[in-house]
Amino acid sequence: MTSVFSQLKRQPADPLLRLITEFRQDPRAGKIDLGVGVYRDETGNTPVMRAVKAAERRLFEQQTSKAYLGPEGNLGFAAALKTLVTGNDERYACVQTPGGTGALRLAMEVIAHAKPGAAVWVGTPTWPNHTALLTATGLQVRPYRYLTQASVDFPAMLAALQTAAPGDIVLLHGCCHNPSGIDLAPAEWATLAALLQERKLLPLIDLAYQGLGSGFADDARPALQLLEHCGEGFLAYSCDKNFALYRERVGALFIRARDPDTAETVFSNALTAARTNWSMPPDHGAALVQIILDDNALRTDWQAELNTMRNRIDGLRQAVAAAAPNLGFLAQQKGLFSLLPISPDAVAQLKTRYGIYMAASGRINAAGFTLEAIPHFVEAYNDVATLAPATQTA
Ligand code: LMR
Repeated sequence: MTSVFSQLKRQPADPLLRLITEFRQDPRAGKIDLGVGVYRDETGNTPVMRAVKAAERRLFEQQTSKAYLGPEGNLGFAAALKTLVTGNDERYACVQTPGGTGALRLAMEVIAHAKPGAAVWVGTPTWPNHTALLTATGLQVRPYRYLTQASVDFPAMLAALQTAAPGDIVLLHGCCHNPSGIDLAPAEWATLAALLQERKLLPLIDLAYQGLGSGFADDARPALQLLEHCGEGFLAYSCDKNFALYRERVGALFIRARDPDTAETVFSNALTAARTNWSMPPDHGAALVQIILDDNALRTDWQAELNTMRNRIDGLRQAVAAAAPNLGFLAQQKGLFSLLPISPDAVAQLKTRYGIYMAASGRINAAGFTLEAIPHFVEAYNDVATLAPATQTA
């Protein structure tokens, strides 16, 4: 008997998320997890932040209902986050989403509704889920080269975007580029903003790591300035990393329009798209963020702990660069990720021979190091890198 199910092919597990299970099952004592992008402390743990714990206690005591909130989610969260990120700019509308991925998906659905099959320009390499989300939403992916060996290939980026048609979308990383940690320089952001405005291209900016790169305000500034310059666009925001709320899935889509009325129209379309995806976003993590942002003491403590996290990542980057001159570029890059110039085969050898886990692209999560683990990593890296060199753009 034929079944609808028999039409389906078995799908492979997401290669990045599969590393979580593989690492957990590896019995070796000296194993190192440089895989999925989560912050880790010096014991390898991804801690619940102090302010989050305090907010959870308060929520437990004070919450009187878990009744539905609606497709826009927690309005107090959206208002507090909008003030934090944009300074409460009225030309922005903000809708709560399940994580940054939910925000990206919502923006893409609104774009697909406004302009079916729209072309979206995406630098390569990028977070693999960007292209998967675009394809799933029925949008056209237009790749262009983002990186040379260890810097942005800005001429290639400009040349590609010169050929874009008015109304095309440009997907950008706000800070802490995933997978390379290599961001545009301020002058490049300014040139890009002028080009987008001139060619009437719509920015969709993924800002998933605010506070983990150069500093909280500095990390969002280029994205906000570009949106200001262009007059309209989307900012897909994640609180998963900077509040360490990963599994709670806390994010928001900011819609920047030329006037509040247009923002309201786009917002209503986002709510319709939310309703047919997740109906309403989960509240717990968003309620915690609201409590933290609305309380001076908790907000100050959260910012202090976030600064400590950023400093730890920077310190680890410096330590690896000092231990291995051939990895000196790590010290210049920002946020969790860097891209090692090694082949997938060398990555596989690091895993099987040394218990060192990373994405097949050679992407590492710098927060996965500990100071004690660095000598083992450098020795292993130099061993496999000489066996199988590759270029950083591979
Ligand atoms: C990552 O790139 O490691 C994170 O954004 C986790 C994910 O969902 O892929």
